[in-house]
Amino acid sequence: MRKQIVAGNWKMNTTPAEGTELAKAVAELSKEVADNVSLIVAPPFTHLCSVAKTLAGTKVALSSQNCADQASGAYTGEVSARMIASLGASYVILGHSERREYYGETSEILNKKMAQAYANDLTPIYCVGEKLNERETGKHFDVVRAQIEEVVYQLAPEQFDRLIIAYEPVWAIGTGKTATADQAQEMHAYIRSVLAEKFGDKAAACPILYGGSCKPSNAKELFAKTDVDGGLIGGASLVAADFIAIAKSF
Ligand code: 13P
Repeated sequence: MRKQIVAGNWKMNTTPAEGTELAKAVAELSKEVADNVSLIVAPPFTHLCSVAKTLAGTKVALSSQNCADQASGAYTGEVSARMIASLGASYVILGHSERREYYGETSEILNKKMAQAYANDLTPIYCVGEKLNERETGKHFDVVRAQIEEVVYQLAPEQFDRLIIAYEPVWAIGTGKTATADQAQEMHAYIRSVLAEKFGDKAAACPILYGGSCKPSNAKELFAKTDVDGGLIGGASLVAADFIAIAKSF
């Protein structure tokens, strides 16, 4: 059986003090979440140290939202995977559409970031997803396939064993317009088939999360689908009660 995972991507929100309060509330409410559901929060870099302390000894794991594509050195403003791991984070979100779109992250850059993540024992949460015009012109499967082939296909099989994928249709992110459960299932099943072409039976074990306006009111329907193994939550992860309600939707 695949892992069920709900991860909160806080994006560029909250001060460190507010983040600590949010993490405390999530940790407290996490006691209500079933043992087989993994919870992850991804605060901004500036909060990792304090949130790690808040989450110590709880069932909530820590992720960063990004990492540098280099190990160390003269890269002003960058934060390395080693730094992130040393603070107690176990995951890193890579390839988020906002990183691809606003910061020019290409597959070439993402391959380097993936290598840094694995070298430092961080589990990547690798995001894929098409834009609205790509869906409207019927290119969504091809776009997602390319995002997988160019990055995930470059992994060694034992690296793939530790990968989490998040399908986040760009048109559903922060728009309040969620993919229907059937649209999500269709794409998740497609992603799994593309993974199976390269990694065979291992694809059946890869968690594939849905992201894009996932909230307490629609999580149940989405998570009921065979290939939807949880969610990567933006806006709703900033409200502890909503985030936990989503995690109780399996
Ligand atoms: P929203 O849940 O705010 O749509 O964001 C989804 C997302 O981008 C998570 O990474």
